[in-house]
Amino acid sequence: MSRFMTWVDERFPLTALWNSQWGKYVAPKNFNFWYYFGSLAALVLVLQILTGIWLTMNYKPDAQKAFESVEYIMRDVPWGWLIRYMHSTGASLFFVVVYLHMFRGLMYGSYRKPRELTWIFGCLIYLALMAEAFFGYLLPWGQMSYWGAQVIVNLFSTLPVIGDDLSVWIRGDYTISDVTLNRFFAFHVAALPLVLIALVVAHLMALHETGSNNPDGIEIKKQPKDPRTGLPLDGIYSHPYYTIKDIVGVIVFLAVFSVIVFFTPEMGGYFLEANNFIPANPLKTPSEIAPVWYFTPYYAMLRAVPSFAQTQVWGVIVMGISVLIFFALPWLDRGAVKSIRYRGRLYKGWLVAFIVSFLILGYLGTVPITVWGQFADSAPFYGADKATVVARFLTVVYFLFFILMPWYTARDKTKPVPTRVRWH
Ligand code: HEM
Repeated sequence: MSRFMTWVDERFPLTALWNSQWGKYVAPKNFNFWYYFGSLAALVLVLQILTGIWLTMNYKPDAQKAFESVEYIMRDVPWGWLIRYMHSTGASLFFVVVYLHMFRGLMYGSYRKPRELTWIFGCLIYLALMAEAFFGYLLPWGQMSYWGAQVIVNLFSTLPVIGDDLSVWIRGDYTISDVTLNRFFAFHVAALPLVLIALVVAHLMALHETGSNNPDGIEIKKQPKDPRTGLPLDGIYSHPYYTIKDIVGVIVFLAVFSVIVFFTPEMGGYFLEANNFIPANPLKTPSEIAPVWYFTPYYAMLRAVPSFAQTQVWGVIVMGISVLIFFALPWLDRGAVKSIRYRGRLYKGWLVAFIVSFLILGYLGTVPITVWGQFADSAPFYGADKATVVARFLTVVYFLFFILMPWYTARDKTKPVPTRVRWH
């Protein structure tokens, strides 16, 4: 084996690559629960690509045949149901994992200097992932696929001047049609997976250049070296230590994943919606069009913004900025410390307010705006839907978390950061 490896290494830097990216990559020794989700995101990416390739073998990107071909996969293709449920469950769990991964970044200030580019690549991954999920959702050609795509593409038509032409250009037609299905298929199975893989490689290269942050926010590269090992005092090799840790995460994740795939693949309508088991019908709009759960916080914001001057473009702008604002985070945070462990009440309070707003907005995006009834027809709300008023308030909280960040992080009473990581 070792002679074989020498032969390979003389021709291709395999060992060097393994050592620089994992084997001899020095990481802080205090990674906790929240550090499982990067490797899990990578695992789900691989699962999605593999199950996607096998789905493509029997799926037909044709408006006349797409819905049937999915039924064929579910009923007639050997193990087709398993491949399809793995792919649909994987899509939702991808967002669960990525949201937890991003939340870790917010808690420990992982987006801050010197990891700004790791964060920016992460935000680009998030955008690409949203596009990937959106394109994929049209493919089964069910009622929700069709009308969801209709609603989202129509958002572009609210843009001034170029809007109408732009939405025709995206669809390739005046309505969502066979042409649209074909191009969304091309994006979903070829273009975006390539973009995602390239971005993940860049994300990891950037991270391995600066080294990982950790739950204490201490830069281990700045620590003195241990004379025995030559590593920073709180640094350990990723292999075998984090190889073993990540395998534990993978096993637990796969257990949860299997329970969903085998027992509740529709997840009560959150992972696969009832309306999508009805073939697309361009002549019949479903009574409620709601996106899949991972888009609902943004959808709730879109609905919360009133239309001024006969245009709904404001909602679209608010929704766009609510995603793009994540890019600015490294430059909005002026805190003296990175990790939540040493932050004061101001940052902690705003982070809680932000997460609670995001979750409630997520819920509100899944239900009709009439869910909580109306206010009385007098001041101050004049009969408005209660859910809309709450969504407006939460949208403001969501944005204030970012807009006020330079102010409250600078004023926050932080605790002194120790020189060594806390580790038991
Ligand atoms: C396909 C999606 C993604 C994959 C496969 C991925 C993978 C990884 C991996 C393997 C790590 C190192 C291990 C860990 O820290 O957990 C990491 C770290 C990191 N990721 Fe991601 N990531 C993804 C998406 C994102 C997104 C959407 C963001 C933010 C918008 C993000 C931000 C970060 C940051 C800031 C770090 C450094 C964390 C630290 O050192 O404390 N990642 N990522």
